[in-house]
Amino acid sequence: MSNTVYLNGQYKAVEDATISVMDRGFLFGDGVYEVIPVFGGNLLALDKHLKRLLNSLDRIGLQNPCSRDEWLAIFAELLDTNSGHDRAIYLQVSRGAYVKRDLSVKTPNGEQHPPTVFAMVLQVTPPDLELASAGISVITVDDFRWNACDIKSTSLVANVMLKQQAAEAGMEDAILIKDGGVTEGTASNVFIIKDGVLITPPTSHKLLPGITRDLVIEIAKNNTILVEERDIKEAELYEADEIWMTSSTREIAPVICLNGNAVGRVDSKANGNASSNASSKGVAGEMWKRMMDLYQQHKQTLRQGG
Ligand SMILES: Cc1ncc(COP(=O)(O)O)c(C=O)c1O
Repeated sequence: MSNTVYLNGQYKAVEDATISVMDRGFLFGDGVYEVIPVFGGNLLALDKHLKRLLNSLDRIGLQNPCSRDEWLAIFAELLDTNSGHDRAIYLQVSRGAYVKRDLSVKTPNGEQHPPTVFAMVLQVTPPDLELASAGISVITVDDFRWNACDIKSTSLVANVMLKQQAAEAGMEDAILIKDGGVTEGTASNVFIIKDGVLITPPTSHKLLPGITRDLVIEIAKNNTILVEERDIKEAELYEADEIWMTSSTREIAPVICLNGNAVGRVDSKANGNASSNASSKGVAGEMWKRMMDLYQQHKQTLRQGG
């Protein structure tokens, strides 16, 4: 299958797309990125993604290298040449390659250095509903990241370390805790459901303003499901009826086990067969089923060009 990518104005086979070892994206993680899901050729929440890209670029002091129409032309060309069903556009802008390895962003003539602009198509396997409903097991970990998590930065080493912490504990993911409160997942946002209300932390420098988070809130409000954007204390996780983790690629994943404790209703079948020291597991909740159904309807409308 063709794997044509975009790099600095050119379309190339991925093997031929190379950048300088002096690129600041490579040396410092000095760049930002976006992942935009594509259903049936239509980009999901395109304007929200471009707005977040602009915000990330602004925050690190980079100009948007492309106009909206230029971005759209790049996406269209990539989607044309990389066929597939459900896909995603990955795009990345770094501050480019400087002659010297130097943290300073100033160039000798004071002009902005040409950034490195890269985009490619990711083939996405849509979450299998049956498989998704099996849910995921997570641990809580200390969120030791910086105070600028609202930037979708390519500096992801902290997230890699936190994800690894979860993997070493035999868990699929981690919920990050800062100052006794929930921030987000390693690559997702967190919702809890309590007494029929969806609760998620408000956007701030502590977390990435997820587009899926936004869509879930929008869909909930359109369907008269109550939503509260407020801080969530770590202790509330243990009292929650349901916990979800949301992202563009994972969509809405139900958490069924938190630090070895079942979330929501206990799965008597799974736990009945388990040895006494095994984690207990819950089952995906009713609100998750409802929201997942609404989310799939939203995707289907997009696939049909709506
Ligand atoms: C740290 C973090 N939080 C949240 C998200 C969810 O964002 P979105 O819903 O836009 O995919 C991501 C996605 O990659 C992420 O990396």
